[in-house]
Amino acid sequence: MTIPQQDQTRAEDTREHTAETTFPPSPEFIADAIADSGLHDAASADRVAFWAEQSRALLEWRTPFTSTLDWSDAPFARWFADGELNVAENCLDRHVRAGNGDRVAIHFEGANGDTRTITYAQLTADVQRAANMLAGLGVGQGDRVVVYLPLIPEAVVTMLAIARLGAIHSVVFGGFSAESLRARIEDAGAKVVVTADGGWRRGAVSPLKPAVDEALQGEGTESVEHVLVVQRGGNDVAWTERDRWWHDEFAAAEPEHEAQAFPAETPLFILYTSGTTGKPKGIVHTSGGYLTQAAYTHKNVFDMHPEKDVYWCTADIGWITGHTYVVYGPLANGVTQVLYEGTPDEPQPGRWWDLVDSYGVTVLYTAPTAVRAAMKAGRQIPEARSLESLRLLGSVGEPINPEAWQWYRQVIGHDRTPIVDTWWQTETGGIMISALPGVTKLKPGAAQTPLPGIVAEIVDDDGHRVDPGGSGYLTITEPWPAMARGIWGDPDRFVETYWSRFPGRYFAGDGARLDGEGDIWVQGRVDDVMNVSGHRLSTAEIESALVGHEGVAEAAVVGAADETTGQAVVAFVILTTEASEGVDRVSAATELRNWVGKRIGAIAKPRQVVIVPELPKTRSGKIMRRLLRDAAEGRRIGDTTTLADPTIMATIAELM
Ligand code: PRX
Repeated sequence: MTIPQQDQTRAEDTREHTAETTFPPSPEFIADAIADSGLHDAASADRVAFWAEQSRALLEWRTPFTSTLDWSDAPFARWFADGELNVAENCLDRHVRAGNGDRVAIHFEGANGDTRTITYAQLTADVQRAANMLAGLGVGQGDRVVVYLPLIPEAVVTMLAIARLGAIHSVVFGGFSAESLRARIEDAGAKVVVTADGGWRRGAVSPLKPAVDEALQGEGTESVEHVLVVQRGGNDVAWTERDRWWHDEFAAAEPEHEAQAFPAETPLFILYTSGTTGKPKGIVHTSGGYLTQAAYTHKNVFDMHPEKDVYWCTADIGWITGHTYVVYGPLANGVTQVLYEGTPDEPQPGRWWDLVDSYGVTVLYTAPTAVRAAMKAGRQIPEARSLESLRLLGSVGEPINPEAWQWYRQVIGHDRTPIVDTWWQTETGGIMISALPGVTKLKPGAAQTPLPGIVAEIVDDDGHRVDPGGSGYLTITEPWPAMARGIWGDPDRFVETYWSRFPGRYFAGDGARLDGEGDIWVQGRVDDVMNVSGHRLSTAEIESALVGHEGVAEAAVVGAADETTGQAVVAFVILTTEASEGVDRVSAATELRNWVGKRIGAIAKPRQVVIVPELPKTRSGKIMRRLLRDAAEGRRIGDTTTLADPTIMATIAELM
């Protein structure tokens, strides 16, 4: 990966570090806090022993491990490798055995108004039966199952049932297109796909199964033997030989399932994420290390008291946040949580805040884009609710600007709640950098400190550590339990993508600044990955979708700063000679927006498609995206003297 210097500078420019206001933990919070400074002491005394201790304390091992970390095949780590456990049993059965079967695991709120309360005992029973159901469809250890479901309890049940069997789930966000789904099914060689007829969105059914049907007509999906369909939307669906209704299979399956113990390095899931190339990467996570860090971070960063907290992470299970902080972390810790299928403002503005009040949510974890959207809608909406139950707020997915941080704390947190800004990635599996509530003096806008057990460093272009006050690239220097174990089917790409820019260090694309007190301010991506509403999108992937359209000759995509979504996709497109004849630019742009939506998914649709006669290229043919970003953000266009055609930017600026 090459990191253009100008991109790094830009990341610095756009995020000023403003540390005037700080928030030390309140005595009331400290009095009952889970984390204390002893955690940092223990981890710095012996990091590897610290993780072993955490793992033994947080998980139930059927066969205790004797080896904690094997780094001999770096960067492919093995954690707790000779230990054995069952991930689902750790998230379910053991809580029931400990006498907590009556505790609510999930308060479910459907987008169509239905609700379900599911206890740990019920969830355990459902997962056992679902494990038998999947085993009956031929799913066994190591098989891949693609999950394409709305955010409903069956999604959680399916993931845990797959884990229980030692099989591997690959959850595909329901907003991805048939083509994205097809590519993921093919890459993973999935045996079964679990989907629903449809999900609910704003009072209407949005069909899902048709996308599965379309995907399975495509090339490379012959591995799929069955499609299991949850009845959710009640919409009509086409039916084939390989399709099975969830409710029929579930009812017919045996109720009890004895969990088998699997070695700690058994793959747990594959999750595809965008990178700097056109093809998404299947990030592989395994069992023991991943679950250790999921439970540890969830407990300490969110100050979890399972006997009294009601936790709510608003992420969809299609993203890593949903995996680690909706499914594995909270359930491993035996916590009660809210699962909500809908959007923040349906059917009325302030629906989220109503849910906080009606369930007495104590800890809320969401993305800055949602906070900024709430700010825009106006403080009178949350102010009309109580929100008294909230005692801790979390942020994830993108840098949170200090203004949004302050608003979040004042308006949602009543000037009282700590806010944890958590930096991590699909590849890191769990939170890496965050304040510890009750310990850290909070700085609005900064992720602040590597968690105890994590070692991060900011380095310059040559890989040298920067001094406080400096900025550069965020790297991780020591292996951590939840780290990705590779890219599915492509070990070389794993090494090349993350471990080659700075040998011996993990680097996955973020720039950061170290302030005078040694706190980390993550500044955003320094590569060609965009962050739209906290979702990771690749410029290369969208460009490749655009040039896949017969009317497109060339395309360049940039992420432009956007007040609400953080960044927005802006595409510059040259049409082919045939396509450009007599074409209406507005309808061409609309068609191309929809085309990207169809090829990748609605989240990737450009905010704007600009039809241009030429792109700003250097004499050697390199597209200068920096200039396109200037145009997209309405800034003065930078230096154009190195362009083959120095006048092109004036034309483009005019076209915008
Ligand atoms: O750029 C960083 C940003 O999100 C990227 C990871 O995206 P993804 O793998 O989809 O995971 C998102 C949820 C963990 C990072 O490379 N990012 C995530 N959290 C933060 C952040 N940027 C700044 N501050 C954060 N707290």
